[in-house]
Amino acid sequence: MTPGHVFICDDEEEILRYLRKILTSQGYGVETFSSGTALLQRLAKPGEEPDLLLQDVRMPDSDGITVLKEVKRLRPELPVVIMTAFGTIDDAVAAIRMGAYDYVTKPFPKEKIFGVLGNALERNRLLEENRALRGELGRGPTTSPIIFRSARFREVYDLALQVADSDANVLISGESGTGKELIAAAVHHHSPRRERPLLSLNCAALTDTLLESQLFGHLRGAFTGALTSRKGLLEEAGGGTLFLDEVGDMSPAIQAKLLRVVQTREFLPVGATRSSSVDIRFVAATNKDLEAEIREGRFREDLYYRLNVIPVHLPPLRERLEDVAPLAYHFLDRFARRMNRGITVISQEALGALEAHAWPGNVRELENVMERAVILTRGEEIEPGVLPLKLTTAPPEPVATCDGVSLESVEIDHIRRVLARTGFHKSRSAEILGISRKTLDRKIAEYGIQE
Ligand SMILES: Nc1ncnc2c1ncn2[C@@H]1O[C@H](COP(=O)(O)OP(=O)(O)OP(=O)(O)O)[C@@H](O)[C@H]1O
Ligand SMILES: [Mg+2]
Repeated sequence: MTPGHVFICDDEEEILRYLRKILTSQGYGVETFSSGTALLQRLAKPGEEPDLLLQDVRMPDSDGITVLKEVKRLRPELPVVIMTAFGTIDDAVAAIRMGAYDYVTKPFPKEKIFGVLGNALERNRLLEENRALRGELGRGPTTSPIIFRSARFREVYDLALQVADSDANVLISGESGTGKELIAAAVHHHSPRRERPLLSLNCAALTDTLLESQLFGHLRGAFTGALTSRKGLLEEAGGGTLFLDEVGDMSPAIQAKLLRVVQTREFLPVGATRSSSVDIRFVAATNKDLEAEIREGRFREDLYYRLNVIPVHLPPLRERLEDVAPLAYHFLDRFARRMNRGITVISQEALGALEAHAWPGNVRELENVMERAVILTRGEEIEPGVLPLKLTTAPPEPVATCDGVSLESVEIDHIRRVLARTGFHKSRSAEILGISRKTLDRKIAEYGIQE
């Protein structure tokens, strides 16, 4: 992958050659245009999309500002960096007013160009990421239904909807792929804040500096490369909900800053001297055991208590296998529709294999398995043959060798298996085994079964 595809528009052949040389040496894709007309013609045609445009505003054939206006009409999101000759700063100012992202004054050293480029491309990436997250989360619960049949999930779901109404912060925990993001969206969409934005920040994906400026925003010139002021998510999500994903991966420095916001409802944009106040509900998610992180000194206890006003724990799919069938049919329906396929049935045998799997990747893994199955299925029915091998080649049941096997050893084995399945959750295991919790405790002690 190239770091970016750059369009350069300048009437000076020498500048084009120079820029092409230094940019391609860094792996950028480059297309050059010697006139505004050529540039606009290219933008009107299909082809590889530019990530950035470097444009001279003083060209003999066209008024640079008019060209810029047209570029902004065709590609409102494309960052444009204006190149001006020394002493024509007015052009640059006019260009910035027209929506250019930044400007450089000729003759510019390489470093300057790469600095500006890096910034503009980073901004693109963040914009895209945010758009993707908003798109994902923006869908209400109606278009992104939450499917379940198990009583265990019903409990969690009811809790989530019940607390949605309050303003309390919610901490959603659970293994990867259990539906934390989906529940976070449901909390927002069932809350009085539903008309306000639900924004999302993935705390594991960004460096501290970016995380901080994403959260708090910054003023122009707050740090090297902060060429314009930017609103932070805390401000943009005002009156709404901020979803802090993978909150367990936040560094101690950011944790301290976030704690201050959660406590005082005030924050300081980077480079600002006066704090602003926020009205935000925080919904955080993590697949880490935060209490263990606290013991290890990696997560602040005070922040934990602030975020964890209402804990919502999503059980792994293997502890609610009744949900497998309705989820599998839900995904079948979705992918069949999307791929325009008339598949409507999952064979008994295939369903059996799905229900016997332990789903370490939880619902996301099931979703992927169903997508693959729909792609591979030729008829109307999903057969075991289109499921991944690991699902259909379960370790063979030891053939019943009845001789010399006591009832007791079968019992011990079975209790062990159920305990392992539930993660040594005794009341749940007792329920599955159909015995009382007390009886189970007695058997565990008697047989010396260890966790
Ligand atoms: N109960 C459910 N009904 C329908 N779809 C679900 C359900 N649970 C999860 N999914 C789907 O499974 C996928 C994973 O869910 P989600 O992204 O919410 O998990 P997560 O817990 O946030 O995972 P991670 O920790 O890896 O970020 C998503 O595509 C989501 O739509
Ligand atoms: Mg997630």
